[in-house]
Amino acid sequence: MSPEELGQVQAEALGRVKGAAGAADLLGIERDYLEKGGVVAKILASIPSLAPEQRRELGSGANRLKQAIQKAIEEREGELAAEELERERKAQGFDPTLPSAQPRRGSLHPVTQVTRELEDIFASMGYAILDGPEVELDYYNFEALNIPKDHPAREMYDTFWCDRNNHLLLRTHTSPVQIRALERFDPPFRAIVPGRCFRNETVDASHEHTFHQMEGLVVGKGITVGHLIGTMKTFLREMFQRDLEVRLRPGYFPFVEPGFELDVRCPFCEGGCSVCKRTTWIELCPCGMVHPFVLRYGGVDPEQYTGFAFGLGLSRLVMLRFQIDDIRHLMGGDLRFLEQFGC
Ligand code: PHE
Repeated sequence: MSPEELGQVQAEALGRVKGAAGAADLLGIERDYLEKGGVVAKILASIPSLAPEQRRELGSGANRLKQAIQKAIEEREGELAAEELERERKAQGFDPTLPSAQPRRGSLHPVTQVTRELEDIFASMGYAILDGPEVELDYYNFEALNIPKDHPAREMYDTFWCDRNNHLLLRTHTSPVQIRALERFDPPFRAIVPGRCFRNETVDASHEHTFHQMEGLVVGKGITVGHLIGTMKTFLREMFQRDLEVRLRPGYFPFVEPGFELDVRCPFCEGGCSVCKRTTWIELCPCGMVHPFVLRYGGVDPEQYTGFAFGLGLSRLVMLRFQIDDIRHLMGGDLRFLEQFGC
């Protein structure tokens, strides 16, 4: 076959490709030219009968022909796909110049925001941030915190039990992580534990079955109430950007001795407001020196070490910070509420 003839075959093939109206036409062309028994194969089959000098020429010519047809088919496939897309767009009335739908911008939950703020403050004071299980053992939630079975203090905690034998429960406070931390770390150490807690309570504006606390625990040699007060004042200064007076009142929790309620001078007013109920004091958190029994339950020798603990009501702090008057908003999941705290 002469180069001219080859050229003719190619022109004819490319002409057919150009005129192809769809995938079926292209497949037909492939079959006729490129597959077994097709035009190219026949040309190659004729090569052995040629004079040696013609062989090379026809061989490479046939290869070029094959490549040219393959390339043309691929291009035509692309064109056809683009035309198809365009047809679909027209059919759907798609307008590529319209602005896209804007994704809704999410925001951190107010509890998350305050948690992170407190974590930053305490981390800067050298505290580790711990967590523990929300489904807890009676042992950690009560027993090892010096609240044995039938202890009247259990009345303070309306408990969601998880099994019939009253071994498993939803933790009613973050204090069980005190024991877990004592078991795990050798003193001295300091840690905070932000987390969800649960109480089987009648829900109202100031009571939720699900709420947040942040436990604090510091254990070391010679730790005193002075360290506790100093720590709380430092934390309050960081949080409210100024020095605030604090006071301790006696408070009772079986796992601290002595136990206190720590109040802070209302940061929102001078002489009384609705937040402090006109008293100028706000109840901040229960706290105290870790009871020797608790240290011992956690495997720490109370003759050598002392410690303090506090239980910040995270939910309450969030309400204070954002002036939220109903705790039920926090876990209510209402986006209209949550969208107000963009950050
Ligand atoms: N865990 C206690 C509660 O939720 C609070 C607390 C923590 C008290 C640490 C003293 C020390 O009721």
